[in-house]
Amino acid sequence: MSCVESAALKSSAPTPNNRTRYSFEHPWFEEIRSEWESITTPLRGKKLRILEIGSFEGASTTWILDNLMDHPESSMVAVDHFGGGMDHHVEPIENYNFNALEARFRSNISKCENSSKLELMKMSSDDALLKLRQARDEFDFIYIDASHVAIDVLHDAVLCWRMLKEGGTLVFDDFSWKGYMEHCYNPRIAIFSFVRCAEPEVEYKETESQVWITRVPNKLKATRNQDPTLMYGEDELRAFFNAS
Ligand SMILES: C[S@@+](CC[C@H](N)C(=O)[O-])C[C@H]1O[C@@H](n2cnc3c(N)ncnc32)[C@H](O)[C@@H]1O
Repeated sequence: MSCVESAALKSSAPTPNNRTRYSFEHPWFEEIRSEWESITTPLRGKKLRILEIGSFEGASTTWILDNLMDHPESSMVAVDHFGGGMDHHVEPIENYNFNALEARFRSNISKCENSSKLELMKMSSDDALLKLRQARDEFDFIYIDASHVAIDVLHDAVLCWRMLKEGGTLVFDDFSWKGYMEHCYNPRIAIFSFVRCAEPEVEYKETESQVWITRVPNKLKATRNQDPTLMYGEDELRAFFNAS
């Protein structure tokens, strides 16, 4: 089986707004669906290349296929190794049958009218993003919802950023999620760090649990430091590291 394969399966009941035909044990996406419906309105009908990192049972994937893939030349890539994330493997372990996850994803996708526009990359986001970058792929819309461990989120974000077109949208899930007591295990610190570094090109919008970024070039121009030492002072350094 090729690592990049078409998840194209015959559609059975193409009725985009009726989601009862899908089967989700964890319908997390339902909580943010109405938000997505309104924020993505300007994207409807446009030719879009979309990337999703973290698909699970296909709740967000099916919504995107049903709602943002109307243009005949639109296409989507979904990345998931179907092994779950750290939050599925740290005590207390949630009872979820990962052996059935990929089949559930495929079954849900097969019910989408636009299933033939989807490519599945069944592998880690590290491997998938490097392959896509090497192929010089570019995207109009990227959804990051795979590993929730901060360093993984940051890594996914940095690799995705280079593939986001100007004017494109990058969405992070789980901005408010605090699954662990240590900040370094939660996505928030990664999203904050990324946004601060990408500030010259970022237009930023926060919802209750997500961050939506539009890539806007040259938003913040660089200003030459006139101090001849070209060094941060002690106080500045302290303030810099204390800032969240
Ligand atoms: C929170 S779920 C995605 C939920 C989905 N977007 C939805 O709306 O229902 C996270 C998914 O990311 C996958 N995942 C976690 N870490 C990953 C990694 N490093 N590479 C690829 N997939 C990963 C897991 O297998 C899981 O299916």
